[in-house]
Amino acid sequence: MIILIIFQLLYSGQNTKVSQPNITLYSEVIPPSNYSNKLRQTKQFGYSNYPGVFAISLKEIFENNTEQSADLNDLEIEEKQFGTYSGCYSIQRKIEIEFNLQLQLEQIITQPWMHFTDLATADNKFKAYLVRNDYSIFQVDISTGLGQIELNSKNQSFKDYINISNIVDQFYVPHPYLIDDEGSNKIYAITEFGGVSFSTDENIGDVQMESEEMQQRKQIYNVHKNSRAQLIVVACGSEGIDLYEIQSKGKLKHKKQLLPEQLGIEDGIIIDVDSNDDETKLYLLDSESGLYIYDISDLNNITQIMSVLLPNTKTFDHYLNTFFLVAKTNTQLYYAVEIFIDYEIKSYYYNNLYIDEMIINDVNVFEHYAVLIGDDGHKIIYHSIYNQFINQAIKQHTYFQEDNLIKIKEYDFSKFYNSSSRILIGLAKHAFKYIEISFQDPKITCLSDQVANKSYIATLNSTQCSNKKEHNDSSPYSLCQLTHSFVYQSEFKPGNKSTYAQYTLTLYALVVGLIWLIIVICYLYKKWGYKLEFLKWRKQKLIVTQPFNQDLELQNQNN
Ligand SMILES: *[C@@H]1O[C@H](CO)[C@@H](O)[C@H](O)[C@H]1NC(C)=O
Ligand SMILES: *[C@@H]1O[C@H](CO)[C@@H](O)[C@H](O)[C@H]1NC(C)=O
Ligand SMILES: *[C@@H]1O[C@H](CO)[C@@H](O)[C@H](O)[C@H]1NC(C)=O
Ligand SMILES: *[C@@H]1O[C@H](CO)[C@@H](O)[C@H](O)[C@H]1NC(C)=O
Ligand SMILES: *[C@@H]1O[C@H](CO)[C@@H](O)[C@H](O)[C@H]1NC(C)=O
Ligand SMILES: *[C@@H]1O[C@H](CO)[C@@H](O)[C@H](O)[C@H]1NC(C)=O
Ligand SMILES: *[C@@H]1O[C@H](CO)[C@@H](O)[C@H](O)[C@H]1NC(C)=O
Ligand SMILES: *[C@@H]1O[C@H](CO)[C@@H](O)[C@H](O)[C@H]1NC(C)=O
Ligand SMILES: *[C@@H]1O[C@H](CO)[C@@H](O)[C@H](O)[C@H]1NC(C)=O
Ligand SMILES: *[C@@H]1O[C@H](CO)[C@@H](O)[C@H](O)[C@H]1NC(C)=O
Ligand SMILES: *[C@@H]1O[C@H](CO)[C@@H](O)[C@H](O)[C@H]1NC(C)=O
Repeated sequence: MIILIIFQLLYSGQNTKVSQPNITLYSEVIPPSNYSNKLRQTKQFGYSNYPGVFAISLKEIFENNTEQSADLNDLEIEEKQFGTYSGCYSIQRKIEIEFNLQLQLEQIITQPWMHFTDLATADNKFKAYLVRNDYSIFQVDISTGLGQIELNSKNQSFKDYINISNIVDQFYVPHPYLIDDEGSNKIYAITEFGGVSFSTDENIGDVQMESEEMQQRKQIYNVHKNSRAQLIVVACGSEGIDLYEIQSKGKLKHKKQLLPEQLGIEDGIIIDVDSNDDETKLYLLDSESGLYIYDISDLNNITQIMSVLLPNTKTFDHYLNTFFLVAKTNTQLYYAVEIFIDYEIKSYYYNNLYIDEMIINDVNVFEHYAVLIGDDGHKIIYHSIYNQFINQAIKQHTYFQEDNLIKIKEYDFSKFYNSSSRILIGLAKHAFKYIEISFQDPKITCLSDQVANKSYIATLNSTQCSNKKEHNDSSPYSLCQLTHSFVYQSEFKPGNKSTYAQYTLTLYALVVGLIWLIIVICYLYKKWGYKLEFLKWRKQKLIVTQPFNQDLELQNQNN
């Protein structure tokens, strides 16, 4: 099967595929450091000042100039927590799922055919919107403190605002789409029979839906918004694409329909659409022949720039020049291929193939990572690293599980909180997901239970460094190698001069305080001592006479 895919990739690669890119290496030295630490204390440090570091390798250098690797695998690191250890070891970067909340929506699914189909967010209003395939919209409130989600008690249907045609065939399955526009604070719900928009200012129960003039289409495969051009693009299969302009008040205006033939795709079926927000490029996926890239700087003259030919595609997503295409082999096996695209020289490179473990239904690509959505298992992977730079022995992927997951979206809370974590919100057919993931940079941990003095050299592989920046090099085929040598000393040391001084001062204060306390107590005892003696005597007497007193009380009550 692998052979089949490779054949397909080769076949499709006849266009302008690069097979052996030129590699550039930049070397940089991080100033050396001395770390000293007390016995049995752990010291951990990272390289957060050097962004782009994706792998680390640590070597101990002995006095006789020989070296030994200090890279440990996960299991060995676990063992170190218990056993005795002397020295430093490296920890690779990883993605961790910190937090995983779920809102079960089963109770609002009243028919067996009902399920949710799409998700939009109003990040600035702490709201998420879900649309169900009976054209009702629900709202999820995300608490401003994060980590708390709640379904709003009201919902609203937009069925009456669209003209649902009764000439649809029996295979038609409604799949409404949602698009959010933070500029106009609006959400658009888009279907084959028309669309509506509503404001995110009010709660969904109180909001006034507005009908939007949209073209009737046989089937919509996907909907996308380009924020910069304020354009909504609807992928309509064999009917091509529809372009809508978001006008100043948030009303949609149909600009044009472009048939596959007009886009240079004979007999094309356009199933997915995307664009670069800060550029004027539009990407269309044809189910038969692959990805097409257009320049849309002039909407009246949309021109094809290049294409990546791949048969039997299903979906795609991208971040800048890194694309993930999901496609199917002749044997119905899904795979995802990571592609680097260079518009300048109109070439592309297949960087990675993900085929092994799971069925891939969808892919979402974000700044540093991509999420491959499978049937029930999903994979979070780092992207945009040239495969020759990756040591395959280092595992950097993270899995999570969720039945019937449909869509993942980043919830952008960076305007409100400074955090290195990311929040993903996801929609499954019958559930809403809230996942917090964090990125752990590569680190070095040092720990010693005996006096030690050891020298190390750390080599960091990075996609960024100042040297690369100076050369105006943004190529994925350029590697920055940073080296950092350091000495780790662990010693039995009570403290430095200033802590000594602190100790002495504290001790002095304690002694003086104690003397004063004794004087005060003596004085008080002399003055009030008899009273204390008296109180003591009375208490003793009370204890001694207690059983007798109780009897007395009982007798009194009986009388
Ligand atoms: C690699 O570099 C050589 C010489 O500098 C050049 O001729 C060739 O086109 C380059 N190849 C690629 C894929 O950029
Ligand atoms: C580290 O310590 C050694 C001697 O202990 C010293 O020669 C060297 O200058 C120190 N380096 C730094 C960066 O402090
Ligand atoms: C170098 O020193 C280390 C530790 O002191 C020792 O384990 C190693 O065998 C030595 N290597 C050589 C070639 O002497
Ligand atoms: C949606 O709202 C309507 C009233 O607007 C209500 O009758 C219905 O029960 C709600 N549905 C759910 C699932 O909450
Ligand atoms: C529905 O169709 C009728 C008649 O074709 C038309 O008058 C009306 O404006 C349409 N409504 C919408 C929301 O498109
Ligand atoms: C359309 O754009 C292409 C390339 O950008 C240019 O060569 C062509 O002349 C343009 N056509 C029109 C009609 O403007
Ligand atoms: C860093 O990159 C080099 C060159 O590609 C590679 O040989 C080495 O294995 C990488 N190191 C790590 C820790 O991945
Ligand atoms: C986040 O940090 C940046 C600089 O580190 C600061 O300018 C900004 O005000 C901070 N934002 C919040 C919401 O704390
Ligand atoms: C630690 O070892 C280095 C050589 O490996 C030596 O230069 C340095 O003086 C030693 N430092 C201490 C505090 O023993
Ligand atoms: C890098 O680009 C800047 C402007 O974008 C230019 O001023 C500079 O000369 C360029 N440097 C190199 C090495 O090409
Ligand atoms: C002494 O220790 C204190 C705190 O433990 C630290 O802040 C200070 O920098 C140290 N001074 C020296 C000279 O190492």
